[in-house]
Amino acid sequence: MSKRPLLIIILAAGRGTRMKSALPKVLHAIGGLSMVGHVIKVATAAGAASTAVVVGPDMDNVRDEVARLDPEAEVFVQLGQNGTGDAVLAARTAIEGHRGDILVLFADTPLLGAATVERMQQAVSDGAQVAALGFHAADPTGYGRLLTQGNGNLIAIREEKDATETEREVDFCNSGLMGFRGEHLLTLLNEVGNTNAQSEYYLTDVVEIARTRGLKVTALSCSETEVFGINSRAQLAYAERQFQARRRADVMANGATLIDPDSVFFSHDTQVGRDVVIEPNVFLGPGVVIEDNAIVKANCHFQGIDRKSQAGVRICKGAEVGPFARLRPGVTIGPDASVGNFVEVKNATFQAGAKASHLTYIGDANVGAGANIGAGTITCNYDGFVKSQTEIGAGAFIGSNTALVAPIKVGDNAYVGAGSVISGKDVEAGALSVTRASRRDFAGWTEKYREKQLRKKT
Ligand code: UD1
Ligand code: MG
Repeated sequence: MSKRPLLIIILAAGRGTRMKSALPKVLHAIGGLSMVGHVIKVATAAGAASTAVVVGPDMDNVRDEVARLDPEAEVFVQLGQNGTGDAVLAARTAIEGHRGDILVLFADTPLLGAATVERMQQAVSDGAQVAALGFHAADPTGYGRLLTQGNGNLIAIREEKDATETEREVDFCNSGLMGFRGEHLLTLLNEVGNTNAQSEYYLTDVVEIARTRGLKVTALSCSETEVFGINSRAQLAYAERQFQARRRADVMANGATLIDPDSVFFSHDTQVGRDVVIEPNVFLGPGVVIEDNAIVKANCHFQGIDRKSQAGVRICKGAEVGPFARLRPGVTIGPDASVGNFVEVKNATFQAGAKASHLTYIGDANVGAGANIGAGTITCNYDGFVKSQTEIGAGAFIGSNTALVAPIKVGDNAYVGAGSVISGKDVEAGALSVTRASRRDFAGWTEKYREKQLRKKT
């Protein structure tokens, strides 16, 4: 049967007190993206026609994150934290306006894959009025249990706090992901009461209500890892490990070499080409692209996009970076260019074949094709008030220990003598510019000096 339009409701109103954080739980990140961001991405990948996110009061930062990632998503506020059933009702107008299927996802379950979401919708499209997603838990403590009968028919979901001893022995647990045919959802939710151990309106009660009305209810299952729910910092770290393991496997499957996969950290959006080699101890923040045949040597940190900047880091074909290089937002290392040890680059482009091999800061700059930047070169881009630009021409040669005081231009094929401070007037193309003091030599100076000092001592 073909699929009907899909509304996905993401529940994100929980405070997440066990995180012990000023930040709402769903804004904590996995692979550089908030948990709610991961779930929004999955909703889009699964083909949701519309997405609704339920947040708590005073969660403007969650609202902003949703708007940033999916400007079309509708945000609803759940006033009290009266349970998952009450949270879904906060999105009542979205449910009323929707003709099709509805899936409810939790924003604290960021490892969920789009294929599972699609499977859930298929179950509903195929005729189930209510579908629940379960998993067999190694340790079911804390989860709601899926209670089945005879041939596996789902009859109820029981929260642990309300379960009998026998029900607690069941290891088939509720992931939280549920699917509904839209036309019944509001009627079913209106019947949910709060006479239970937590005096909350449980979304899960809809299963039993639907059964008593003779509606078709079904249970699907998935792996425990995929629906791992995060309530604490330790669980956040566990989810990060799972996420990284997946990303490393994907990157290698696509043809990159990771010499020590466990020591390379990717973000949710890192793009890595073929025949890329990444050496040990590398951290890649969001917004990093590494093109084919590039090499990232050991101990590098690429920050990519941050809160202020939307510009990432791009390592073009055949470029080499590191060891010990730091790339900050807005950096492009052009084809076959190279950036070596203890070089920091921010908001700058190295054109094809340009080089800065050691101990350098290049910020707010353009380095022309084939230019060579000597050790200890600094672009002085900030005067305490404004940031200014440095332009280094193609084929230019910047001698070691040079300070380029921005705004400044060094023309194509120009030379700057080692130890110079270049400020004010631009350096013409093809010229040599040098500002260091002229050299003075004093023959025999050492002996005279030492004798003088010895005399003073005696
Ligand atoms: C829930 C399920 C449980 C399941 C478990 C899986 C219910 C009643 N229980 O329990 O069966 O095994 O998840 O992880 O559904 N939320 C709101 N508003 C509320 C309460 C919660 O938006 O009033 C949101 C939270 O932000 C979170 C999600 O709903 O994203 C789940 O809430 P949580 O309190 O973590 O539920 P669990 O006790 O884990
Ligand atoms: Mg939970």
